[in-house]
Amino acid sequence: MKRTLLVAAALCAAAWAHAADPVKIGFLVKQAEEPWFQDEWRYAEVAAKEKGFTLVKIGIPNGEKTMAAIDNLAAQKAQGFVICAPDVKLGKAIERAAKRNNLKVVSVDDRLVDGSGKPIESIPHMGISGYQIGKQVGEGIIAEIKARKWNMAEVGAIRVAYDQLPTGKERTTGAVDALKAAGFPAANIIDAPQAKTDTENAFNATNIALTKNAKFKHWVAVGLNDEAVLGAVRAAEGRGIKADNMIGIGIGGAKAAENELNKPQPTGFFGSVMISAREHGYQTSINLVNWITGKATPPAEVLTKGMLMTRANQAEVRKAMGQ
Ligand code: GLA
Repeated sequence: MKRTLLVAAALCAAAWAHAADPVKIGFLVKQAEEPWFQDEWRYAEVAAKEKGFTLVKIGIPNGEKTMAAIDNLAAQKAQGFVICAPDVKLGKAIERAAKRNNLKVVSVDDRLVDGSGKPIESIPHMGISGYQIGKQVGEGIIAEIKARKWNMAEVGAIRVAYDQLPTGKERTTGAVDALKAAGFPAANIIDAPQAKTDTENAFNATNIALTKNAKFKHWVAVGLNDEAVLGAVRAAEGRGIKADNMIGIGIGGAKAAENELNKPQPTGFFGSVMISAREHGYQTSINLVNWITGKATPPAEVLTKGMLMTRANQAEVRKAMGQ
């Protein structure tokens, strides 16, 4: 009897200890050096301070580092993590590692997929509608082409492409579809595939595309993020194509875009569709914490909105987006 009581008391204590365990979550991002991800981390920190949980930020540039980070989180007794993986095809391996370590997982930005490329529905996700945001890019470019009274036959469009990432492909497809819908000649759209989603790789890809297509008088550029479009703009500048002959619109609106839009002289980087790093950093963390503490299960999928930001309307857009 006494023994049973003791065991029961010990079990109670264990359960209590577990319930009272301080909440600790990981926030794992594929490109920690990119301002967008820095912003997500910053907003996740805001949530951690506000709600009193511990945040562990880890950069995961490849699959090996991803798996090591998950094991590391488990070893430090975290209960879950938010992830933007370096390769969405790691989805099943990430799900298995999380299960094995008893960690809850939600994804952000890039939706994880299974072996056949289908989204893993059991992992709650927050991202953007790539196609819709891409359309906003294309529509912004068309409006500016019209404002400059360019003849579309004389305009080349660079699509900095990273098609192995579904949201990347959706974004640039939305952009070129909007161009075509407005009568932009499909034959003038040139793919510049980048090997990695950063400025340097976009620069190299665009250089090759421009060399092969010197005949256009004006240029426009789209890509999956601000870095892609910045790379295209820098490559064009290297060939003497400056602000009055280039309309590049990126996606993100973080520091990379801000720096460019605040240069004393305009560049070919005309604008960026600003998306919500705040929602992606702050809200994903809170959704995960609420899941861990049993308060609420995160919504299966949330797609956040964007707004076109240019030199002219920066302040209003930032205010409207709460950033
Ligand atoms: C992807 C891109 C990032 C950023 C996010 C936003 O992860 O690689 O640059 O645009 O989407 O969701």
